[in-house]
Amino acid sequence: MLMTFDNACELHKIKAIYPTSRLVLRLLPPDESNSTIKLGNKFGASSKAACKLLETAKDLDLNIVGVSFHVGSGNHEPSSYYAAVVLAKEIFDHAQKIGFNLNLLDIGGGYPGLWDEMKDFEKIVAGLRQGLMENFPPSSNVKIIAEPGRYLVSSACNIALTVISKCIDYKEREFPGGLDIQAGVPECNKHFTYYLNDGVRGSFMDCLLLEDSHVTPTITNPERYADEPQYNSTLCGPSCEARDVLHPSLKLPELDEDERLWFKNMGAYTIPFYSGYGGAKRQRKFYVMENKYWLVLFSL
Ligand SMILES: Cc1ncc(COP(=O)(O)O)c(C=O)c1O
Repeated sequence: MLMTFDNACELHKIKAIYPTSRLVLRLLPPDESNSTIKLGNKFGASSKAACKLLETAKDLDLNIVGVSFHVGSGNHEPSSYYAAVVLAKEIFDHAQKIGFNLNLLDIGGGYPGLWDEMKDFEKIVAGLRQGLMENFPPSSNVKIIAEPGRYLVSSACNIALTVISKCIDYKEREFPGGLDIQAGVPECNKHFTYYLNDGVRGSFMDCLLLEDSHVTPTITNPERYADEPQYNSTLCGPSCEARDVLHPSLKLPELDEDERLWFKNMGAYTIPFYSGYGGAKRQRKFYVMENKYWLVLFSL
């Protein structure tokens, strides 16, 4: 079995419990500043620490077979991937010096997965290919594996939510002398808050965890609102929690209750986060496939 480790405590535990396991040393990538989720906050040994760990593993007579890295989820910067490959090669070389023969490189995840991010993906892959050819050419016999998450699933899933309640308010702070409702409120000061049937304790956890991660919906039947004015609007989830906000401020026409909103590209880091807190209901799933593909699959 392959197991990943990045610290000495784990090595001692592995020695005690499963000394014959095949071990993969997880590195802290040199640069994950351009990623959305920095996994290095929690995982990965620095170059210096990795060299020490190799020595500890040697002393413990453990079997290290490879190296892994993850440059942070949603990383669009090709040089981050390239730099991680170069670091991996340094560690391979150090391992060889002290008597290991590594033959596995795990280039992790992080790869963007939306259609309009494919240009970045291509640049990343070009940089990676160059890094791998320079440092781990086919003649090195190193097996390369990857763990793409969002690349595979981001665009696979859309979420449809319903407006279950709405509230209109007037931004009082924009009327320092007090609000004279009778005199009429300028349209531009109208503000709507919509309550939707899923929120940050359901599929929209990232809106809570990640700064600036506001999801933007499309309206299911835009024709219905084509000529309507747009208002400042806030989208909230259904729970009692004040932080249950999907988007603090976006322009929308005045939506009817029961209106459906589409959130596209919600396949990654969404539905599995469902917690049930505040009575939230789990999203129902519908699988949709174009007929021509279904017929091909069905015939297999
Ligand atoms: C070890 C590991 N591999 C792969 C992934 C997938 O990452 P991504 O969705 O950024 O491709 C994760 C995500 O947390 C991870 O922790």
